[in-house]
Amino acid sequence: MSGVGILLVLSLGCFIGTWGQMWEWGPDLEGPWCAKRRGEQCCDDRDDYCSVPILGTECYCDVFCNSTAYDCCPDYWEHCHGVVRERTTPLPFIYTTPRIPVTTNNCVRNGALFQPGQSYQENCNECKCEVFSGPPRRFDWRCSQSVCLIRPQLIRAVNDGRYGWTASNYSALWGMTLPNGIKYRLGTFPLESNVVRMTPLKVRLDEVLPESFDSRQKWPGVINPIRDQGNCGASWAFSTTAVASDRLGIEFMGDYKEQLSPQHILSCNSDRQEGCAGGFLDRAWYYLRRRGLVTEECYPYSSGRTSTIGECLVAPRKRQGNCPSGIEFRMEKRYKTTPPYRIRPLEREIMKEIMDNGPVQATFTVKEDFYMYRGGIYRYSDTTRGETSEYRQTGYHSVRILGWGVERTFEGDIVKYWLCANSWGTDWGENGYFRIVRGENECEIESYIVGAFGKDNRRRRLINQRRLNRIRDGRKFRSLNLRRLRRRRKNRNKNKNNRRRFKKSHKSVKKL
Ligand SMILES: *[C@@H]1O[C@H](CO)[C@@H](O)[C@H](O)[C@H]1NC(C)=O
Ligand SMILES: *[C@@H]1O[C@H](CO)[C@@H](O)[C@H](O)[C@H]1NC(C)=O
Repeated sequence: MSGVGILLVLSLGCFIGTWGQMWEWGPDLEGPWCAKRRGEQCCDDRDDYCSVPILGTECYCDVFCNSTAYDCCPDYWEHCHGVVRERTTPLPFIYTTPRIPVTTNNCVRNGALFQPGQSYQENCNECKCEVFSGPPRRFDWRCSQSVCLIRPQLIRAVNDGRYGWTASNYSALWGMTLPNGIKYRLGTFPLESNVVRMTPLKVRLDEVLPESFDSRQKWPGVINPIRDQGNCGASWAFSTTAVASDRLGIEFMGDYKEQLSPQHILSCNSDRQEGCAGGFLDRAWYYLRRRGLVTEECYPYSSGRTSTIGECLVAPRKRQGNCPSGIEFRMEKRYKTTPPYRIRPLEREIMKEIMDNGPVQATFTVKEDFYMYRGGIYRYSDTTRGETSEYRQTGYHSVRILGWGVERTFEGDIVKYWLCANSWGTDWGENGYFRIVRGENECEIESYIVGAFGKDNRRRRLINQRRLNRIRDGRKFRSLNLRRLRRRRKNRNKNKNNRRRFKKSHKSVKKL
């Protein structure tokens, strides 16, 4: 309506002068025409639907009728422009021709004119100016009907409801479709059955666990920062390298301050992996264990912009020369880990594992509302209940769990949560982190928890094996006894035995 108001002010002056040439309706046709239209009564530009039936035909209440003159409704000027016409010789109304063929072949948007074939983007959908053959023949926008990743109505529903978290728009995600969000922002395949079958380690649980825990506080300066995978479905590479880097850092406290390169694993672990279209975690860990990875400094991440993995620039047997980044390649800066192990899907066991050994890798189902998470404790809102499956598509994603905590709600309830690190940059969520309900296997986050130890030299490997054995057997953790270690090293048979046992327990990994 305000648009009409502005038009009125702008056009009143010249309007009156042109009346002489206009056709007029007879006085017997006075009455509410435009005034009785439902919805918008007066319309801007050309709008062939902005009409009212009259004498077996249509009269119009759009500005376009002004230029054709004879097909404006009798009360158009008065009702739409507030101009009282001076009634001169009334002419009998003869209306035979339909609206004159359009001279302005245009679609209109926000007052601007567009040619057929021109288009604009509305969130994730493209709208194109097209000619509709009618009747009435008209120029209008035809928009694609994809489900968008960011949906304003969903944001509103989450923020109006009491879900314990808030949602917001993200410019990096705006304009993407939900299927593309799943394809390019997630990227972890459901675990293969041999990993699911992998016997989880048992953790001894006679301890009282703290109410809250944060790896960043227990191991300051060691835990990897938030990364951004960009438009590449490589959470499999990001979560694996981040958990491995964290754990290497914890193992070699002080000596190791590197970030392992997701690009390395993404570009080089291409066998039976799908790069930016997703990957398997067990295959990633296998690569990390057998080939090892260089650091981020040596092989920086670039797939976030290109959405492709590019060529592998660090050959498996590379020993000298330069890194992809140009710095000198150093063999000893290629890190390996032990095989991964699963933690049982039990809240306390996961907590204990994090507290003792560092962040773990978790795989979970990302539902359609998760992308818009801004802060709070996430729990699936299910606001699309009743919509078609198109609106409720899900995907698998992997992240790091760094710790846990509790929060009191206004109602006085206590909500337990996991503290997780996502790989969508620091603008997303709570500075790149998110919290999710703990102890309820929300979105399956507790189902597939994986950890591994760093592997560098023999001595470390021994310690790791001892630790693993201890955890596996549920024996009490004793602080490292170097004398025992030395004795054990001498005792090669026993050692071999150990290794055999170790291998046995990770048979499923070896099979790959
Ligand atoms: C009505 O038509 C006249 C002459 O074609 C034009 O100058 C004027 O701007 C039009 N009025 C509106 C409201 O567009
Ligand atoms: C969301 O953010 C984008 C980019 O910043 C912006 O163009 C768009 O209008 C926003 N959408 C809503 C509903 O606020």
